[in-house]
Formats: sequence, structure tokens, C-alpha cells
Amino acid sequence: MNRLAVLILAAGLGKRMRSKKAKVLHPLCGKPLILHLIERSKDLKPDVIITVVGHQKEEVQGLVKGHGVKIVRQEKQLGTGHAALQAQRLLKGFQGNLLILNGDTPLLTLSTLECFIQHHRETRSTLSLLTAVLPDPMGYGRILRNHHSEVERIVEQKDATEEELKVQEINAGIYMVEPSFLFSALKNLKRSNAQGEYYLTDIVGQAVKKGKKVTAWVAQEPEEVLGVNSRVEFSVAEAVMRRRILEALMKKGVTVIDPPTTYVDEGVEVGQDSVLYPSTFLQGNTRVGRGCVIGPWVHIRDSRLGDGVSLQNGCVVNDAVLEEEVSVGPFAHLRPGTVLRKGARIGNFVEVKKSEVGRGSKANHLSYLGDAEIGKEVNIGAGTITCNYDGLKKSKTVIEDGVFVGSDTQFVAPVRVGRKAVIAAGSTISKNVPAGSLAISRMRQENKAGWVKKRDLRNNRKNKKKK
Ligand code: UD1
Ligand code: CA
Repeated sequence: MNRLAVLILAAGLGKRMRSKKAKVLHPLCGKPLILHLIERSKDLKPDVIITVVGHQKEEVQGLVKGHGVKIVRQEKQLGTGHAALQAQRLLKGFQGNLLILNGDTPLLTLSTLECFIQHHRETRSTLSLLTAVLPDPMGYGRILRNHHSEVERIVEQKDATEEELKVQEINAGIYMVEPSFLFSALKNLKRSNAQGEYYLTDIVGQAVKKGKKVTAWVAQEPEEVLGVNSRVEFSVAEAVMRRRILEALMKKGVTVIDPPTTYVDEGVEVGQDSVLYPSTFLQGNTRVGRGCVIGPWVHIRDSRLGDGVSLQNGCVVNDAVLEEEVSVGPFAHLRPGTVLRKGARIGNFVEVKKSEVGRGSKANHLSYLGDAEIGKEVNIGAGTITCNYDGLKKSKTVIEDGVFVGSDTQFVAPVRVGRKAVIAAGSTISKNVPAGSLAISRMRQENKAGWVKKRDLRNNRKNKKKK
């Protein structure tokens, strides 16, 4: 009887979001709302997880694919009770308890859910409700209890009398229920309420009338039950989740100088003794090694940083790999496909795209490196540009190990520079350079001795004539 199924209700559009996008697709700390619920459910190791989808079902389905979740469709969104009913077929013959989660309560913690499930099992209830006492219960269904403090029914905000609205204990939208009771009760639901919907909450009154055991378990931390319905509530949930993420990092040995201005997506990993300066964003599928120093004003997405990496002020890093002891910035832009090998150094106002910079190589000032393959211990002088695009196609620049590139050089790709070659400053390199040679491509300088004096004499003569 300890078997557990989880049902996530996620078919609604979320009118209060005022968005064309279904609410469960909106991200919270970088991850769509629905995935937060699915991951929390998986932590419970249930026998099955079922998600009810409706609005933008293709997108939602695509997103949850690969998470081992079963999907049922609710073609018309006729209410939470109607949504739950859609799971009946998939739960046929299931012997155990069903945990129902509203798809918009992302702040629930695993330990709260575990306590709630344990409560349900220990009290041998037919139906258990997760509730909370809120200073401002506005918008939530209220828990109505009898004189013996036993749960009697739930009344929705829109259907409640003035007296009922004063109740501060709310329904969190999280239920544990015996499936056989649930589905028989759902079939009796009526739409005679303010919203004309089939309310899942009406099964409470039915259970009580039938003499079934209904209990409530009150959450200790009211913030966990926040249902996010609007963008304002999203921002409240985001702040709570962000704080939790940063606290978890700090507990693991990461220094976060200014938590209110540090934004780390859920799932991002940061190693011990790394330091995050203010206004740092670590987003998407990002992993930061140990002993890194990042920020201030650094934005990293979908990137991997080895140990001991330094990313100074104002860098933007997207879909890049930075091996250990790489140093970047200030003000550098690393675009998708950048790979910086161990100890490489990228300095100020340097942009790198789809390029590999080898071990210990340096591009310290004002450069564009696109579609380039740069070997080990290469020095790229200030203002070097790879001319990788001829208006039609992109071409590659290959610079082998130990090459020295003088400042203000252009490489007109496709072009290859052999090992240890030297490129004279100011050169435009459009032909391959053999290993070990000096390439110089610029006008030869001519110095005209005494030219200034002659010019001045000429000018003086002209001026006299005019007078
Ligand atoms: C619901 C509860 C309310 C509770 C609150 C907690 C009901 C009738 N009311 O209200 O008592 O205090 O949650 O946050 O259940 N959904 C569907 N199909 C539908 C309608 C909704 O799948 O036809 C899904 C939504 O996508 C959402 C969840 O059910 O994830 C809850 O729906 P929502 O409209 O947000 O319910 P509330 O009005 O917040
Ligand atoms: Ca809600």
C-alpha cells in the first residue's frame, strides 16, 4: 500500500499571466515552471508521474519528454476537477496513494512533501490536504472546519461569504488521496459555482459527507505553498528560489559577495572557493570549477569553466569552454564555440567566436578572432583581426604553435601560418606563411630628409607674395 503515483495539473493557460505562453512554460530561475514540479516529484521516487497538459500541449510535451513522465491531455480546461479526471485511465488498477500537485507551486521542498505523505499514511486518511496559514490569504481557497476543528470543505475565494473570507487557513492545491475514492467523487462534481468550473476542491465536502477520513497537514513555512498565478507572484517566487540557490552554494564553500545582485540558475554548479562578485549571472547549463573569480558584471550562459579561471569586469560568455587557469577580461566577449585551453589569456575588448585558443596563448588587446584555430604559446598582437567572412561564406584561419603576430595584423581567411613564424606588425596576410619565416606585407617606408624645412620655406615665399 506504500506505492505512490504523482499527478501534476498543468493544462491551464494561466490567464492572470497575461501571456500568449502557457504559464507552466514560463521560466523560474532559468527553468520552466513545469520542470521544477517534475523534478521535485522525481525526488519522491514514485511509481509513476502523470502530467495533465492542455494549453500549448505540444510545447509542454516536448519539454517534459525524456523525463519519464506520462502525459494525458485535457482538451478543454473545465477546471481542476476535470483535469484530475483525465488521469483515470492511466491509473486503472493502481493500488496505492495518489499525490496531486497543482502545476504552479514551485517552492515546495522535498522534505515538506515527504512529511505530508507520511502524515497521510500514518493517519490512514482517505484524503489529506496540505494547508498553510497566511497573513494575507487573498485568492486562495479557504479551509472551512467544524466546531471540532475537523475539515469540512473548501470554499474558493470567488464563492466565499465575507465571513468565510476571514479564514486564514488556505488550500495549497496539494492533495494525497485514495484513487478509487477520487475518481468516484470527481464524477459527481457540479459546475454550479462562480467560475462555472469543475472544482477538484469539492471532493473534500463529498468525502466528509460520505464519512471518509479527511485531514489537513499545515505547512511550517508558508512561503513554500505560494501558487504563482501572475508575473508579480513569479517575481516573488523567483526571489525565494534565488536565495535558496545562493544559500546552497554558500554552504558548499562558494563566496557570494552580494546575494541580492547575483543570479544563478537552478542546476548551475560552482566549485569550492570560487568567488562571485556583484552583478554576476550564471545561466543555463553552466559549470564553474573550483577557485574561480567571477565578476563584477559578468554574464555566463551554457558554458564550462575549469578550476582557477578568472573572468574580470564586464565579460559576456556564451556556450564556451574555458579550461583551468584561463584569464579573461575585462570587457571580453566569448561567443558560441569558443574553446580556451589551459592558461590562455584573453584581454580587454577582445571578441572570440567559434575558435580555439591553445595552451598559454594570449590575445590581450582589441582583437576579433572568428573561425580560428590557434596553437600553443601564440602571441596575438593588439588589434589583430581574422577576416573570416567574404560576404558569402566563412573561412578558417589556422595559426600554429609558437607564432608571434605583430599588432594590427589582418588574416584574410582561409589562411595558415606555420609553427614559430613571425608576422610583422601592420601586415595583411592573405597567403599561407611557412613555418619559421617572417611575413611582412606593407608598403616600404620612405624617409625624405629635410622635407619639413623645404616645405616651410615654400610656404613663407607664398605668404610674402600675397602681402
Ligand atoms: C487552486 C485551488 C485553490 C487553491 C489554489 C492553490 C481549485 C478549484 N482551486 O486555485 O483552492 O487555494 O489552487 O494555489 O482547485 N488546471 C488544469 N486544468 C484546468 C484548470 C487548471 O490543468 O482546467 C491546472 C493549472 O494549470 C494549474 C492548476 O491546475 O497548474 C491550478 O489551477 P489554477 O487556475 O491556478 O487554480 P487556482 O485558482 O490558483
Ligand atoms: Ca494557482
